[in-house]
Amino acid sequence: MTMITPHGGKLVDRKATKEDREKILKEFDSYHSLSLDKEDAQELDNIAYGVFSPLEGFLTQKDFKSVLEKGRLLDGTPWTIPIVLDVEESEIGETKPGDIVGLTYNGQATAIIEVEDIYEYDKMHFKTAVFATTDDAHPGVEKVNDMKPLLIGGKITLLNDIGNPYPSYTLSPKQTRDLFEQKGWKTVVAFQTRNTPHLGHEYVQKTALSITDGLFINPLIGKKKSGDFKDEVILESYKALMHHYYPKKHASMAVLHTEMRYGGPKEAVHHAIMRQNFGCTHFIVGRDHAGVGDYYGPFDAHKIFDEYPDLEIKPIFFRSFFFCRKCNSIANDKVCPHSGEDIIIFAGRRIRAMLNDGEVPPSDMMRPEVAETILSYDHPFVE
Ligand code: ADX
Repeated sequence: MTMITPHGGKLVDRKATKEDREKILKEFDSYHSLSLDKEDAQELDNIAYGVFSPLEGFLTQKDFKSVLEKGRLLDGTPWTIPIVLDVEESEIGETKPGDIVGLTYNGQATAIIEVEDIYEYDKMHFKTAVFATTDDAHPGVEKVNDMKPLLIGGKITLLNDIGNPYPSYTLSPKQTRDLFEQKGWKTVVAFQTRNTPHLGHEYVQKTALSITDGLFINPLIGKKKSGDFKDEVILESYKALMHHYYPKKHASMAVLHTEMRYGGPKEAVHHAIMRQNFGCTHFIVGRDHAGVGDYYGPFDAHKIFDEYPDLEIKPIFFRSFFFCRKCNSIANDKVCPHSGEDIIIFAGRRIRAMLNDGEVPPSDMMRPEVAETILSYDHPFVE
């Protein structure tokens, strides 16, 4: 069975071989080293296992500029979110292009980077190009504000995985590709989420699954803004939903360890690219994908795909799903003529407010087993 090719042509593998690993670890103390935070360390894993194929390291200046200006790497490959390593001048010492620098996380040797360049960058340009706003209240902008002033570009080699609390739900692109092959799925639709599932999410997924062989639910686990659901709550509520309402033969789940950037349309393309690397052929883009507040129009994340006809993974676009009292079913504005009072919108904000008050959302919004799972946590939200 031929599988969809990884983005850019081949699945990147930047894990050190056993021999190299031993050799590098012996020399590690002689390298200048940088200590990474969890988010940057996480990206090392993603690069090394090919989640970010074709990236083999952190972006060099030419690629970084090209990503901001064109939403593509210098060679034209679609790429919308800069994967960069930011540092303080005081941290890099005498480091210069051509050097090898050790990267540590939690005091452990994690990887090395072959430094190609060290460069300054324009934060305003970063914010406007990726987030289309410079408003400090936007969580992506806030993160850029906090970034260190220099970026180091270069290929990395991973020595040790950074580890994670959900090993049984963590699969590398190689493993998901093997899984889809075992299941005999020729077409696989991926679903990105940062939320616990409401009925709108379920119907988007099931509608897409009606025209594909398999569904790959891929919740994003990692740093999120306060008020979003905690990782464990998302995972547990999906387990409950899948157990009660999904056909095992056609649905699977693994988590994606990276941070939310809240980049709306630009992040939607990034989300699609990662899922192509996991071996998915289709990608769901619904209402306000990866959005926050009112920074993006509800369907901006659909329009951006017009600029990427060369993407191999195919987006499947959905209008807003809602519950219609007249139809007495889940519907959307393409299939249902009703409006106003008849319509119950699955507004995440409203559901979160109900749960916050210990209220059980009605069953035409959220499955009772899902609501029960969420309410079993004293503090289901990120503080
Ligand atoms: S996101 O930040 O990961 O996009 P969320 O987990 O809420 O947030 O959404 C996951 C996917 O479901 C996105 O593609 C989003 O557009 C889609 N989606 C969420 N709610 C609805 C809805 N009511 N109707 C259609 N699509 C939806």
